[in-house]
Amino acid sequence: MAARSDLAFDPWDPAFLADPYPAYADLRERGRVHHYEPTDQWLVAHHADVSALLRDRRLGRTYQHRFTHQEFGRTAPPPEHEPFHTLNDHGMLDLEPPDHTRIRRLVSKAFTPRTVERLAPYVRELAGELVSRLVARGGGDLLKDVAEPLPVAVIAEMLGIPEADRARLRPWSADICGMYELHPSGESAQRAVRASVEFSAYLRELIEQRRKEPGEDLISGLIAAHDEGDRLTEQEMISTCVLLLNAGHEATVNATVNGWWALFRHPDQLAALRADHSLVPTAVEELMRYDTPLQLFERWVLDEIEIDGTVIPRGAEIAMLFGSANHDPAVFGAPERLDLTRRDNPHISFSAGIHYCIGAPLARIELAASMTALLEKAPTLRLAAEPRRKPNFVIRGLEGLSVEIG
Ligand code: HEM
Repeated sequence: MAARSDLAFDPWDPAFLADPYPAYADLRERGRVHHYEPTDQWLVAHHADVSALLRDRRLGRTYQHRFTHQEFGRTAPPPEHEPFHTLNDHGMLDLEPPDHTRIRRLVSKAFTPRTVERLAPYVRELAGELVSRLVARGGGDLLKDVAEPLPVAVIAEMLGIPEADRARLRPWSADICGMYELHPSGESAQRAVRASVEFSAYLRELIEQRRKEPGEDLISGLIAAHDEGDRLTEQEMISTCVLLLNAGHEATVNATVNGWWALFRHPDQLAALRADHSLVPTAVEELMRYDTPLQLFERWVLDEIEIDGTVIPRGAEIAMLFGSANHDPAVFGAPERLDLTRRDNPHISFSAGIHYCIGAPLARIELAASMTALLEKAPTLRLAAEPRRKPNFVIRGLEGLSVEIG
């Protein structure tokens, strides 16, 4: 297939998806900002630039708080996609201040390091149970058997989603997340719209139930805040719950399997980790840097900016390459080497600035819990078959990770 631009960056090319890091090195060498015609975006690949732009208030995740689509030189999304956009656009990740500040303040109380630390014993116990079951079976699919059920159960428990309904969360999330890829197909959009309608209806009903019978969960807490100070609209509450449920597991699932696959490909590092479990905290950070679970985040240019002499006008879109920033030799010594002992590791996988991942402390607990359980209970864990990558670029993951024990 012909290259889509003169850049080595080609997120539709399976060879690029298998290993995008050499193409990122090429981008970084060729300059600080590149116009990428296929998506009409400005690619930014250096750690210093990504880090600065994430904090730059001249950029935003949305422009709709300041401009109409027409004023911003963009077309409104097709009306048939409306259920997806209504859901997405009212979640804090796609809002800017003051709405973002108001919602984030309410939600963040549930996710402070101290609050989530109280969840740690439950997370560790659950990770232990899931791994014990995997061991009893002599292996299985690390994705389906451990990586997925752990974060899904934790975030569902926090929000108070009844156990019987939890199997529905993952397919809804996967269908909605399809829209975060570059150029989603018409079929992906249809699936995302259907999932948005169903997920919203489900949560509207659950919120109604919790209103009648409040519990100890986060949904009941948000209802109380809403009823007291009218600080969350009904739509914001639904969108916040969907965002928490989706963001609360999607990247953690991928970080777990990408991480273990990287370990299997680096037997010396895995052996060092098995010999010294106190490496788990730095290993978790290094694996998130080494194969970055979320590769690209976008921002709209609300007020003109200049990068290295290139003027980027209002209305343009910037695509920040997190995977590239995490492999920038200006910040990381020997960035292509997996080094589980790496201490100076300012990776950008959880973002920065006002949208910095609210779930980072929880994700770290979950990743450390599953890793520790696998090291302790499955010391002979090994790869049973070469995994297949998901054909996605933005959300980087595997179709499964088949493992054997014993
Ligand atoms: C390895 C796991 C995870 C990774 C790599 C990750 C990554 C990210 C990133 C990169 C962003 C910001 C995107 C941007 O700047 O445009 C973000 C935001 C967010 N994440 Fe995470 N995340 C993870 C786990 C979690 C978990 C467990 C939760 C649980 C609640 C969560 C909830 C959120 C929320 C609500 C936001 C939006 C914050 C805001 O807009 O202010 N994430 N995450």
